[in-house]
Amino acid sequence: FAYINYLVERDRKYITDTLLTGLGRLEYRGYDSAGVAVDGDSEKEAYLFKQVGKVAALREKISTQKVDFQKPFISHAGMAHTRWATHGIPSETNSHPHRSDPTNEFMVVHNGIITNYKELRAVLEKFGFQFESDTDTEAVAKLAKYIYDTQKKTMGNTMTFTNLVKAVCKELEGAFALIFKSTHFPNELVAARRGSPLLIGVKTAKKLKVDFVDVDTSDLSNTVSADQNQQTLLALPEQPKIRRTQSRSFLGEDGVPMPVEYILASDASAIIEHTKKVLYLEDDDVAHISEGDLHIHRLRRDDHMSSVRPIQTLEHELAQIQKGAFAHFMQKEIYEQPESVVNTMRGRVNFDNHSVVLGGLRSQLSNIRRSRRIIFCACGTSFHSCIAVKGLFAELTDVPISVELASSFLDEQLPVFRDDVCVFVSQSGETKDTLLVLQYCKERGALCVGVTNTVGSTISRETHCGVHINAGPEISVASTKAYTSQFIALTMIALQLSDDNLSKMARRREIIDGLYRLSGDIRQVLTLEPQLKQIAQDLASEHHLILLARGYQTATCHEGSLKIKEVSYIHSESIAAGELKHGPLALIDSSMPVLLIMNKDRHYADTENAFKQVTARGGDPIVLCDCDDETPIFANSRTIRVPKTVDAIQGIVNIVPLQLLAYHMAVARGFDPDSPRNLAKSVTTA
Ligand code: G6P
Repeated sequence: FAYINYLVERDRKYITDTLLTGLGRLEYRGYDSAGVAVDGDSEKEAYLFKQVGKVAALREKISTQKVDFQKPFISHAGMAHTRWATHGIPSETNSHPHRSDPTNEFMVVHNGIITNYKELRAVLEKFGFQFESDTDTEAVAKLAKYIYDTQKKTMGNTMTFTNLVKAVCKELEGAFALIFKSTHFPNELVAARRGSPLLIGVKTAKKLKVDFVDVDTSDLSNTVSADQNQQTLLALPEQPKIRRTQSRSFLGEDGVPMPVEYILASDASAIIEHTKKVLYLEDDDVAHISEGDLHIHRLRRDDHMSSVRPIQTLEHELAQIQKGAFAHFMQKEIYEQPESVVNTMRGRVNFDNHSVVLGGLRSQLSNIRRSRRIIFCACGTSFHSCIAVKGLFAELTDVPISVELASSFLDEQLPVFRDDVCVFVSQSGETKDTLLVLQYCKERGALCVGVTNTVGSTISRETHCGVHINAGPEISVASTKAYTSQFIALTMIALQLSDDNLSKMARRREIIDGLYRLSGDIRQVLTLEPQLKQIAQDLASEHHLILLARGYQTATCHEGSLKIKEVSYIHSESIAAGELKHGPLALIDSSMPVLLIMNKDRHYADTENAFKQVTARGGDPIVLCDCDDETPIFANSRTIRVPKTVDAIQGIVNIVPLQLLAYHMAVARGFDPDSPRNLAKSVTTA
């Protein structure tokens, strides 16, 4: 996250507050330590404040510093970061911003992973740099200083900030969204991205004159070695001629400087309270902000890449990302589902004539119908939404279906062909594992479809076509409303793909009628919260929980189990009920808590068998069943009774009580469900 103002007077308090509030919005992506870099009392001096723990702890620390918070700045570049540890334990020294040296000449914040950092570090250590952290990022800051100093020494001049960052990035392998600040370039910021998201919000009182930024696509990088005799991995660029005309500023075109503030963030949720006008950086973009101007350069020439970055308007409101009356985002997001499921269907499902039209798929519909196979690929909760619709796709489309975990897809190097359709499902649209498979499938010529919740995300941009699930921002690390909206989006795809098949008409109508009732069904489930809270309190002291189901509810069982382990840290296992007798039954006795999902669908009799197998071993399962199920068999069991809907979408109704159960189990055990230990909302490293 970064903030830079120009001709707008802001004091140090405002600047640090802005940075800390921005971090707070991003905290769901990582929260084991945090840091801030702001100017000191002279431009050649910078303060770095770091703290282990959440952003609140850093805020507390900063408030006790002996610095002049009233000091005003007409122009000031500040940046901040909240970390999810990949290299090195959570500690102050490992937290960002990282610096080139004790005087903070170059400071860097980074999302992603630099895969060649060990090589860089070894070379830089040879040149005398002393590393203070275990991170990959520190090598980036030190590399900037090395190149800057060497250029000055060998060529007698210094580089522009942009060209310095370009030179640094050329040495980096892996994925990054980087922001640089330097005491050599006061009041300037340079940001670069490759593989990790980064967007820039533009806040100005004046109306923006143009709705795009031209990008400098000229390749400015003639690299020459610093010293051919030196054993070095580092190549130094010549000072290039800057071709400003091609990377023009879009503000103050009349030559009159305009007051402006820029907010840089890895996620729109940190920008929305400042401005709705944003532009998304593309891979290999390098953005330079100075004196109110924004220039975007390219790290390398790419003729396929557009040289225009449109300024887009964010749709969501600040209220959508604030907790309101709820104790946690997870609870709020569970409660948003009656509305979010409607938003997913809005303008797409016509309940009167039972039709579904997904505009984002229109151009590729016939290709998808003709495909020889549909491969669904995702991680975590998104993966479960794919499992949830597997049966429905098989039933409605007659196309062979496979559902694959993105995180292991490449281990197996699964064969993918030109006539395959690959559907990538991702709430964030930024999950690295999923992106890597997308790349792999694209290279093999498959038609790639994205299903994401994040407009402008990498997956929505890199796929050939797709569907936005429109669930609204999801802040809680544990995904809830995105799951139900993904489930619906995928169901809508199956419905649209089969709308030319008359024999499926009655089934399609039945499902569409079920979708119509869905919002009311979820509302009804939410009234069960007091009962679920009680069950959660009963389960809070357990060490294990087994969830059982079959058929359509297998996915519900996996997702419910994931929710419980993610936020309550109780070991929970989801088992396909048919598999019980093949091994897991050995775990069952009177002390093993079991939750059985048992709706009156075509698997009812088989699930009943599972119920008997458990009770015969002394187990006393909690049963999630239809509200009107009066079967005597579980008359004495604890039951969670939900409205009955069409089997193929019953999982959308069923998951809601399990989300509430997981939420209350976490709260009952004293954990913060919004920030589960060791987890991050969006995993942008592989
Ligand atoms: C992380 C999150 C999970 C999420 C998964 C996939 O592991 O903790 O909640 O389901 O990533 O994320 P995506 O954004 O691709 O749906």
